[in-house]
Amino acid sequence: MNYSYNSGSLVENLSCSKCGQGYNFKEVQTFATCCEKPLVFSYHLREDISKNILNTNGQSIWKYRCFLPILDTKHIVSLGEGLTPITKIEKVGELVNVEHLYLKDESGNPTGSFKARGLSVAISKLKELGIQKCIIPTAGNAGGAMAAYSTKAGIEATIIMPRHTPKVFKDECEIYGAKIILVDGLINDCGNKAKQLNKDGDYFDMSTLKEPYRLEGKKIMGYEIAEYFDWDLPDFIFYPAGGGTGLIGIWKAFKELIKIGWIKNKLPKMIAVQSSTCAPIQEALTNPHNWKEHFKPEASIANGLAVPYPFGMDLMLNVIKESEGEICTIQEEKIKETVHLFSKKEGVLISPEGAATFMALNKLKNMNVVSKEDRVLLLNTGSGYKYIENVI
Ligand SMILES: Cc1ncc(COP(=O)(O)O)c(C=O)c1O
Ligand SMILES: [Zn+2]
Repeated sequence: MNYSYNSGSLVENLSCSKCGQGYNFKEVQTFATCCEKPLVFSYHLREDISKNILNTNGQSIWKYRCFLPILDTKHIVSLGEGLTPITKIEKVGELVNVEHLYLKDESGNPTGSFKARGLSVAISKLKELGIQKCIIPTAGNAGGAMAAYSTKAGIEATIIMPRHTPKVFKDECEIYGAKIILVDGLINDCGNKAKQLNKDGDYFDMSTLKEPYRLEGKKIMGYEIAEYFDWDLPDFIFYPAGGGTGLIGIWKAFKELIKIGWIKNKLPKMIAVQSSTCAPIQEALTNPHNWKEHFKPEASIANGLAVPYPFGMDLMLNVIKESEGEICTIQEEKIKETVHLFSKKEGVLISPEGAATFMALNKLKNMNVVSKEDRVLLLNTGSGYKYIENVI
């Protein structure tokens, strides 16, 4: 294939996140077979890269296209994802006695969640590589996003989702023209089903971090956060972690921004938030060698948090360690209350996953991990409208 690099992409390499072995980014890649770990892109980053490199005409994540791995702009599949607002949420901030509390609200993304970011880049890459069919195991939002972006790109999409997922998530996939398969179980069972359907390699498997492109799209949240705070990042970022692409991606962005000198001050502590019904990060930290043996994951009303065996576990643990962050596990019962609280106090109907981040802040504030003066950013990763049957 002849690449023209006319997107201005600075992409340099694709390598194993564990041992660093290189993989050809001009060919179709999934994960690093050398160590069975995710692959990660790196870029030609130098201190003299000016902010003029940003594509200021871009009304989407593609404003930052030089830090994305698409080599030719004609392959970009965009529905206007990203550039989501960050606002100060003073009323709920008062409740926990945190003076500088901000919300990055991802609900305005196409298909109502931050999954649009990753799928915009991944589907663009599939188009660039000439792939015609893709399959995804999903807790809901990634499936809807893949259905929409695939349609836009003329690619066939098959979505595998737990049967208990709220109805809207299933309906939207059908409306976008995707094929949907329901499975009794959690996302790992959907993953097994995807593997079985793909035994002849007919599809590109879009499972979280088993391909390297979605992470790059999610990463742009980190660029946007840095730009909003004028390159002086908040003290804490609370992220609702499932497979972890957002957590890993935001941290990757900050490290890229340090390399080019746009961020000079200290980095935030990254707080990964999970539900007590399914908290594999907590399990892995408590019992690193045999956490899987007695682990009994269950569903959550925050569907996206019920990811029992994340492929990117090591990368998530690394973000928590490097940032001197925390894993915070919250009780399921309080999620619903928090969704109602945000609606009534702030006028935003947040997703249960987003609600979990506020409960985690409350917990860490009470433990004096977070102080009154700290600048804190919560991520509302999706729209609460799709979950109404879970939270009413
Ligand atoms: C609204 C929402 N928040 C958070 C997550 C977790 O995202 P990740 O798997 O990238 O950690 C999901 C995943 O489905 C989600 O839909
Ligand atoms: Zn390796």
